[in-house]
Amino acid sequence: MQNEKLVQKFNRRAWKQEKQREEEASNKWRKRICGSVRGETLEIAVGAGMNYAFLPGDAAYTDVDFSPEMLKGAMAGAKEYRVNAEFILSEVETLSFPANRFDTILSTGSLCCYEDPIRVLNLLNKWCKNEGQILLLEHGLMNRKSFQWLQRQLNPFFFKAFGCHQDRDIIKLVEASRLHIVKYEQAQWGYLYLVWAKPAE
Ligand SMILES: C[S@@+](CC[C@H](N)C(=O)[O-])C[C@H]1O[C@@H](n2cnc3c(N)ncnc32)[C@H](O)[C@@H]1O
Repeated sequence: MQNEKLVQKFNRRAWKQEKQREEEASNKWRKRICGSVRGETLEIAVGAGMNYAFLPGDAAYTDVDFSPEMLKGAMAGAKEYRVNAEFILSEVETLSFPANRFDTILSTGSLCCYEDPIRVLNLLNKWCKNEGQILLLEHGLMNRKSFQWLQRQLNPFFFKAFGCHQDRDIIKLVEASRLHIVKYEQAQWGYLYLVWAKPAE
């Protein structure tokens, strides 16, 4: 699917995300992963700012999304939650930050979207400082084989409808990238993956 069509899909969903932002302020998994955020932080595919309720106020944020409507939502959210963010409208894949720029890179619910998620993870590896961290909260293949089968069957529908893959094995993807996993946790029958990673030395 071309990115333009994907952008339109996410533009159409932006109002819904904005409405959800309030509810997400009690999401314990977001709270858990965002609790590790520190320093100069890049958030990729920020959406309408669903993590803003949990971000430490003393960090500086660079927030990226390719959907103008999502980014508008994020800007409104940043005002509401007093998040000190600079916004960039761009595909993650075409960004050109210098190497070793960020202390923290945060991605929540974004690895399901990219055509080549390993390429994106390797970009994060490059942009992260050596002593920095990459934090992921992603959904992917569940633990049980029967659920995985169902996820694979439903994947084409989900991708067409929402631009979102349901059948990604998050740990395998991270292991196939240059990142090193420091620790990970799974929740909701394995559907949610929380990953604390660091860049390759
Ligand atoms: C499922 S939403 C997740 C939003 C938010 N991070 C969250 O935790 O709810 C996916 C977001 O990724 C953005 N996105 C998808 N592919 C992208 C890409 N290649 N470059 C930049 N943004 C992208 C979409 O516009 C959308 O805002």
